[in-house]
Amino acid sequence: MISPASQDAIAQAAKLLASGCLVGLPTETVYGLAANAWDAGAVQKIFVAKSRPSSNPLIVHVASVDRLRDAISWPPPPLVRDQLAAISDLWPGPLTVVCERNDRISDQVTAGQSTVAVRIPAHEVALSLLDKCVFPLAAPSANRSKYVSPTLAEHLCGPTGIEEHLSMILDGGPCHWGVESTIVKLGSEIPQLLRPGAVPLAELAERFGIHPEAMLQSTAERHQRAPCDDETPWLSPGMMREHYSPSTPLRLVDHSLATTYQFANQRVGRIAFVPLSKSEAGRFAAVEILSATGDLREVAHHLFAALRRMDDEGLDLILCDTCVPVDLGLAIMDRLHRAAARTLS
Ligand code: TXA
Ligand code: MG
Repeated sequence: MISPASQDAIAQAAKLLASGCLVGLPTETVYGLAANAWDAGAVQKIFVAKSRPSSNPLIVHVASVDRLRDAISWPPPPLVRDQLAAISDLWPGPLTVVCERNDRISDQVTAGQSTVAVRIPAHEVALSLLDKCVFPLAAPSANRSKYVSPTLAEHLCGPTGIEEHLSMILDGGPCHWGVESTIVKLGSEIPQLLRPGAVPLAELAERFGIHPEAMLQSTAERHQRAPCDDETPWLSPGMMREHYSPSTPLRLVDHSLATTYQFANQRVGRIAFVPLSKSEAGRFAAVEILSATGDLREVAHHLFAALRRMDDEGLDLILCDTCVPVDLGLAIMDRLHRAAARTLS
C-alpha cells in the first residue's frame, strides 16, 4: 500500500486521483489525504475516511501562484491581490490563505462557505503530483478527525490510520516541519490569523506592514464574537478546542517543575524538549527527548510521532514539556493545548 514516491508511482497516483480515488500524500508540514478538489464525490470520500464533520472545510493545494485561480475567485479584489503579492515569496511553503472561492471548487471542500483555503506545498513529491494533475487537490491532514496528525507514511496505516480508504500512499519520508501550515484570512485591512503554524506570525505581519499583536488581537476578538465548538459553524475549525489528541491523558508541565511531579502506581510517559538527567528519566515508563538543545524546529519535527509512540505504550498519563508561545512555539503550544484539552475537561 505504501509506495516509495518514484516518478512512476507519482504518475499512477495522478491517474487514481483523476478517477476519483484518495491518495496519501507527503507535504512539508504533515501527510495529507488528497482528492480532486473539483470532484464532489471524491471529496466526500475524505470526510468518510476521516470521520470529519461535513461542516469542517478542507485546504486546497495548487502547484504555483499561477494556479491559485483554480481555487480562488479570479481576479481577486485589489486588496487581496496586494496581500497575495506581499506574501507570495513564502510559497511554496507552509502558508495557507483563505479567500473568496471560485465556482469550480466543490461545495464539499468549502463546507458551503463562500471562501476557500489554499496553499502551495513545499514538498517535491506534492509539487510533482500537482503538476501531473489538471485539477487542484483538496487535502486535509491524513488522520482520523481529532487524532494526532501524521508525519510519517506509516502513520496512515495500522489501527489509528486511514489506509483502508486509500488507493495509494506515497512515501516521501518524514515531514520537514511536523506542524501544519499557518492559516491567514485575507481581504480585510488586518488579515486574520486563523491557525498558527510553521510560518511565524511575525514573518506574516512584517509582509503586511502591521504589528503581530494587531493580527492576534483581531483573531481573538473574532473568536470571542463567535466561539467555536462542535455545534457552531466554524470560522476555522482548526480553532476547535479539542484536537490532535492522543487517547492517553496528556498533561502539560513546565520542564523545571516536572521533577516535583509525583505519581503513585501509575505508568507515566514523559515527552521532554531537552535531555533529562538519568535519575529523572528513570522515573518514567517511557521517555521521548525531542531535541538535544531545545531547538523548537526539532521539537516540532518530532512532536506528533512522539505523541503517537507514547499513545501505543498503554500508559496512564503522558507528561509533556511546554515552551514560550512565540514563533514556532506559538504553533507548538496551540497543538499541545488542544491535545491536552480532553484531559483537562
Ligand atoms: O499543513 C497543512 O495545512 C496540512 C497539509 C496536509 O497541507 N493540512 C491541514 O488540513 O492541516 P486540515 O484539514 O487538517 O486543516 C485545515 C484547516 C481546518 O482548521 C479548517 O477548518 C481550515 O483549515 N479551513 C479550511 N477552509 C477554510 C475556510 N474556507 N475558512 C476558514 N478555515 C478554513
Ligand atoms: Mg488536521
